Amino acid sequence: MPKNDPLLFLKALKEDGVEHLYIPRNSETRGTGVRRTESVKDGMLELRDRVRQCKQCDELAKQRTQTVFGSGNIRAKLVFVGEAPGADEDKQGLPFVGRAGQLLTKIIEAMGLSREEVFICNVLKCRPPGNRPPAPDEVVNCSPFLKRQLELIMPKVICALGTHASQALLQTDRPISALRGTFSEYEGIPLMCTYHPAYLLRSPGEKGKVWEDMKKIIQRLEESSE
Ligand code: URA
Repeated sequence: MPKNDPLLFLKALKEDGVEHLYIPRNSETRGTGVRRTESVKDGMLELRDRVRQCKQCDELAKQRTQTVFGSGNIRAKLVFVGEAPGADEDKQGLPFVGRAGQLLTKIIEAMGLSREEVFICNVLKCRPPGNRPPAPDEVVNCSPFLKRQLELIMPKVICALGTHASQALLQTDRPISALRGTFSEYEGIPLMCTYHPAYLLRSPGEKGKVWEDMKKIIQRLEESSE
């Protein structure tokens, strides 16, 4: 049964002879009207604790000031996924608060949204020392946390920022230049890959391409709420 698509799921239930769905008043429901069997908030709090206690990557656990779980709306329609916390994020415990983060905030606001409306997180929840790229085993260790975050939030669209987030979500080694610009899919959710804001700080001439990608996201979000 197509549980990822609520409308197809309901249609399939109807074809199976289900005429009515009983949704208890106190159950957690989303825009779809389909009952969620667990509370998103409780799930996120429990997950945040697991992230805080994680010591799977020895070097990262020893060197971090704190883990950086993510921030924003846990019922967001749009989730941004970056690579890993940097020095500023490690200090503050929040994602994308440094220079790249300030540019991301401007991009989000140009889309007519706010940081509070979306959810922002990273593939890695700990800072790699010296801002080195995430090691493959670190991505493997940390990916279940990201997977669970996305499962709980159930956004309408995911935006992967840069090579590492895009490759981790799509399980590919194709370059970001080939991945960006069109929607892919992550677990049935439309996924737009785009350049990382830190790359845009180095190559401002590429901002136009990111804006093209953001316009496609805006359009997809509008279609999803029609
Ligand atoms: N770069 C990222 O990928 N994530 C952050 O949180 C900050 C900078």
